Parts: sequence; C-alpha cells; structure tokens
Amino acid sequence: MSSEKQKVVLSGIQPSGNLHLGNYFGAVRQYLQLLDSGHRCYYFLANYHALTSMRDRARLLEQTKRTAADYLALGLDPARCAIYRQSDLTEVCELQWILTTVTPMGLLERCHAYKDKIQQGIPADHGLFAYPVLQAADILIVRADLVPVGQDQRQHIEVTRDIAEYFNSSYGEVLNLPDPYIPDEVAVVPGRDGRKMSKSYNNTIELFAPEEEVRSQIMSIVTDSAAVKEPKDPDRSNLYGILKLFCRPEENAEWADRFRRGGLSYREVKQAIFARFMEKFGPARRRREELESQPELVEQVLLRGVEQARAVARPLVKEVREAVGIPNP
Ligand code: ADP
Ligand code: TRP
Repeated sequence: MSSEKQKVVLSGIQPSGNLHLGNYFGAVRQYLQLLDSGHRCYYFLANYHALTSMRDRARLLEQTKRTAADYLALGLDPARCAIYRQSDLTEVCELQWILTTVTPMGLLERCHAYKDKIQQGIPADHGLFAYPVLQAADILIVRADLVPVGQDQRQHIEVTRDIAEYFNSSYGEVLNLPDPYIPDEVAVVPGRDGRKMSKSYNNTIELFAPEEEVRSQIMSIVTDSAAVKEPKDPDRSNLYGILKLFCRPEENAEWADRFRRGGLSYREVKQAIFARFMEKFGPARRRREELESQPELVEQVLLRGVEQARAVARPLVKEVREAVGIPNP
C-alpha cells in the first residue's frame, strides 16, 4: 500500500440464511480483494437488520454464528480486518437515532424494500422503513470510503450519502461520504430460476451445503427445452451466466462459442459448474468444517473485532454529539 492511499472499507451481510454464490461473487469476493489490497476493512454481521425479516430467536442466534464462521472459512483474516456482530457495536443505534432526525420521510419512502411491500399491500413496520438509516449508521460510524456490495444495494449507499450530506449541511463537515464498490462484471448473479439469486427466492446455490445438496441445486438450474444439437444463445442462458463466474475471460469465450455452435448438452455444462464449484470452494468448505468444532474461536474473533470497530466508532459518535448539542457523558 504505497502509491495508492489506504481506504476505509466496510460491508455487512444479514445473517438471515446460508451464504450463496450471489453473496460470494456479489460481495465477499470483493471483501477479499479489498483486504488483499491493504485497505482498512470492517466486515460485520447485520443481525439487527435481520430482525426486520425474521422472528425466530434460536435461528437468528444460530445463523449469526454460522455466518461468522462462513466469513472466516472464506478467508476473511481476522488478523487483517475487524469482523464483528452489528449488535455488539451499540454505538450504531445511538448514531442511527441522530441520523433519523436529519432524514426526510420522502427519502425513505423511495427505498425499494419498503416501497415494494407497500405496493404489494403488505403492511410494513417501522424497522423496515428505517432500515436504510441503520445501514447509513453502520457505514458512517467508521468513516467508510468504500462499501463493497451487490447492485441491489446501490440505492442504500446513495441514501447513506444523502443522509450524510443532510447532516453535514446542518452541522458542518463531520461525516465522510462513502462510495459503493461494485465491479461491473458481477453486478447481479442469476439464480437457479434466472431471477436474481436470493435467499428470499429460494433459488440459491449454497456455498457450504453438503456436497449432494450442492449437486442437486446445480442440477436443478432451469434451462429451456432446446435439443443438444441446437445452437443456443449464451447471453440468454442462466447456466452460462453461472458458469462464467468461475471462468477466465478466454474460457468464457470458448464456452460461449460452444453454446452458439450447437452440440452442447446442458448436462455437461452443469457438470462443469459442479466441478468448478468444488475446486473453487473445496478449501473453504474444509476450513468451514474445522471451524464447526471451534465455536469459542469464532466468538473470540467477534469480540476482538468489535473492540477494533469501537475504537473508531466512539470518537465519531462523540464528535456527532458535540456537533448537534448533546453533551457527552
Ligand atoms: P439475499 O438477497 O440472498 O437476501 P443479501 O441481501 O443478504 O442476500 O445480500 C448480501 C450481499 O450479497 C449484498 O451485498 C448483496 O448485494 C449481495 N448479493 C446478494 N445476492 C446477490 C446476487 N444475486 N448478485 C450479486 N450480489 C448479490
Ligand atoms: N442491507 C445489506 C444487505 O441486505 C446489509 C447491510 C446492512 C449492509 N448494513 C450494511 C451492507 C452496511 C453494506 C454496508 O445486503
């Protein structure tokens, strides 16, 4: 990290389900790249956010532990970044309240998650409405410069910038405006049914499911009924969309060519995806298995991680309190 300035990077995932290929290629892979580039990184488990979609005490506790172990197994190195539970950094909720007081209703009314529910006639609670403000607090509390996320989260980063600007225009330049970090080539990972891969669509390929389950998830990727000999358009195939995540550009071109020429069976493509999946994630899957018997190690990482985050969050909240006229105790 000599010529390029060191940046502050922050991101989080809700522990509301098992990590899948969309989470990896859309988010965690970029977490690893930014970490390897020597930036100062904060990666957390958004368990307060998860409360907006789940009300199952045991499952939330369990998924939070599992996702922490998943992060470690995938290579997020706790010696080089802070890994923590959102709920342990209690200062986040304090900052969130102050931010709500500069956030116009209209800004939140335009946010997708809330808007979609209202449009479907489903009653939304205040947690879902305020979700983006909590996310803004997560980001602003460590003065993040870069937020690696998938395309679906772009709006939340824009809202974070807007909130920071509203705050700064009332109280002075206290908050740092972050940028999203979304490499073009993996903006959206397609799911087994061709829609965006997502826990909520039940169309995922899970990173740490047992091997047979991974196989059956891959074998169930939806295809059209074109015969083997027919030429196929790779750009309209979600099989190709998933396969190309694992390939180098030259290989992609070769596969695309085979799709177009005809004579390629979908079965062969699925087998190629399975083989590449196992090759790519085999080491992480083995580490994940080892971590299964070391829950205390994972807990220690989280406790150390939150201390690192707190070391920057405390002074930030103190500065914010001073700026708005709330005495620091
Ligand atoms: P899900 O949609 O399965 O609930 P999350 O909302 O928990 O996933 O997403 C966690 C991170 O993974 C976010 O940064 C999100 O943008 C990214 N992500 C999730 N699904 C995809 C996808 N299909 N393609 C690209 N990125 C994704
Ligand atoms: N909303 C994000 C998601 O569903 C999770 C999240 C919460 C997050 N706080 C964040 C992501 C801060 C980046 C930065 O994926």
